[in-house]
Order: sequence, then C-alpha cells, then structure tokens
Amino acid sequence: METLDKIKLIYSFDEEDASNLTQIKDLMNSNANEFISGVYSFISNFDDFSKFLPNDEIRTRHREKLKIWFLSLFSGKYDNEYLRQLKRIGETHSEIKLPSHYVSATMNYIRNFIHKVILKNIPASDKRDEIIKSINKIIDINLDIIISSYINEGKFYIAATKFETKIIKFSSKFSYTLDLALVISLIIATIMVFLLFIFEIYKFAFGGGAFESTVVDILGAMLIVWAIRELLEEEVKKLKGHKFALSAFIGLAMAALLRKILIFSLAPGKSKEVAILGFLVLVLGIVYWLMNKSTKS
Ligand code: HEM
Repeated sequence: METLDKIKLIYSFDEEDASNLTQIKDLMNSNANEFISGVYSFISNFDDFSKFLPNDEIRTRHREKLKIWFLSLFSGKYDNEYLRQLKRIGETHSEIKLPSHYVSATMNYIRNFIHKVILKNIPASDKRDEIIKSINKIIDINLDIIISSYINEGKFYIAATKFETKIIKFSSKFSYTLDLALVISLIIATIMVFLLFIFEIYKFAFGGGAFESTVVDILGAMLIVWAIRELLEEEVKKLKGHKFALSAFIGLAMAALLRKILIFSLAPGKSKEVAILGFLVLVLGIVYWLMNKSTKS
C-alpha cells in the first residue's frame, strides 16, 4: 500500500520542488498547444495508435485530458486528489490494455520536450538546474504511479486520512496472517489425506480388504490430494501478490464429488445418488470451464 507522503519521501520531493514547478507554469502554459501536437505526432508512430485512438471524438477528448494533465504538472498542488487522478489515468490505460511501454516511451518524449522548452527559455543558472531536477522528480512520480496502477490494479490505494491508513495497514496484515494460516492448514490437510492414502494400501496388504473398494478409496484420496495441491498453489500465488483463482475451489468441490461417485458406484441401489452427483459435477465442470475461459481471454 502506498501513500502520498511515502511517495514524496521516496523521491525527496519537497516544497522547494513544488515551488520550482509553479515558477514555470506560465512558460509551459504558453507551450501547451505545441506539447499536444508534439505528443500526438510521437504517439501516432505506434503500431496500435488507430486501435486505441480510432476516431476524432476520442482523440479530441484525449488531447484535452492530456493538456489538463500536462498543466497540472506545474500547478504546485500535489495532494491526494492529484494522486487519485494519476491512479485513474493508469487504470484507464490498463483497462483498454494499452501496453505500459507506450506510456513509458511517451513519458520519455514528454520529459525531453519540457527540458527543451526550459533550455530554450531560461538562461543557464543554478536555478535552472534545480528546476530541471524538480521536473525529473514529478515526471518520475507520475510514471511510477501510472505504471503501479497497471501492475497493482486494485491493490494500489491512496488513503485519505492517517486513521484510514492504519485501518488498511492492519487489515492487510490480518488478511496476510489468515492466508498464512490457510496455507499451513492446507499443508496439514494434504498430509492427512496422504496418510489416508498410505493407510488404504496398508489395509489392503495386511487386512485383506476388497480389491475393488481399495482401488476406489485410493483413487478418491488421490483426487483430494490433487485438488488440495491446486488450492495450495493458488494460496501461495496469492501470498506472492497475484490474484487468487477461484476456480481452484470449484476444482476441489469437483474432486470431492467425484470421490463420492467412485465410492457410491460400488454400493448397490445408489444409482439415483450417483446420477445427482454426476449432474452436479457436470454443472461445476461448466462453471470451471467458463471461469478458465474468461481469465484466459
Ligand atoms: C504519458 C503518456 C500519457 C498520458 C499522460 C495520458 C493521459 C491520459 C489521460 C489524462 C486520460 C484520461 C483518463 C481518465 O480521466 O479516465 C487518458 C485516457 C486515454 N488514453 Fe492516454 N495518456 C498517455 C499515453 C497514451 C497513449 C500512448 C495512448 C495510445 C496510443 C493513450 C490512449 C488513451 C485512451 C484511448 C484513453 C481513453 C480516452 C477516452 O475514451 O476518453 N494514452 N490518457
């Protein structure tokens, strides 16, 4: 979780930087139209330019928003609202699946454009060097937040108050602890089912159990071990910051039902139960397939 203060601290962005940027506000304002045409001639070279910005209506809207964003770089007001807007820009680009390289490359063009304007209009001095440093910081902060919204879609959060920050920090730690507990429980459950698996073989070898039912019991245990392993893998992925695939739960439910079908298939007079379970497995199978299909596309 990131906060406005943390980001500013990481980049050593202080009041001096904010003041340096405000000083060139008028200069940038008078170069805003040149900025827009420059950016557009740069991005129109991208292969997918027409795919993302297909018509005049969208392009005009984008130009206007781009101009507002450009001028806000020099507004001197870098508060939570500013950060929220950057996050939204990242989300909008991420939603349309715009490659993040395009944003990075365009930002590189923008940095060079601003440098050129400064070098052309402000005489060489320590102050000019300071202004350029502040420009680099605000551009890097912008790129950082926009790209973070791509990577941590939904995870990137800007708290409005300190209390909110504390609550969010506490709940994310709590949820992390719960995830860890779940992983440990799943490991224990896997060991237990594995023991059951060994016990079935032992029972058959030394207790003289029926061959058919032993094979079915072993197959059932294997199915459950496989499903728990899938669930465990998903939990570990979640701990590493990836999204949790709910389909792992459906997989586990299917494995449990299949195990029951295997057991019932040996018992006489259980055809009705087997048919109902079979239908449930079919329904779950369709849901499982649909879920996997939607995550792939
Ligand atoms: C540093 C680079 C860029 C900046 C600062 C930027 C800025 C913005 C902003 C401020 C918005 C409006 C976000 C909102 O309020 O929801 C936006 C939307 C959008 N951007 Fe960009 N953009 C950049 C690069 C690009 C590139 C390279 C493309 C495509 C080649 C692109 C395509 C779009 C599209 C299609 C939208 C949605 C437009 C709409 O339907 O309103 N952007 N961008």
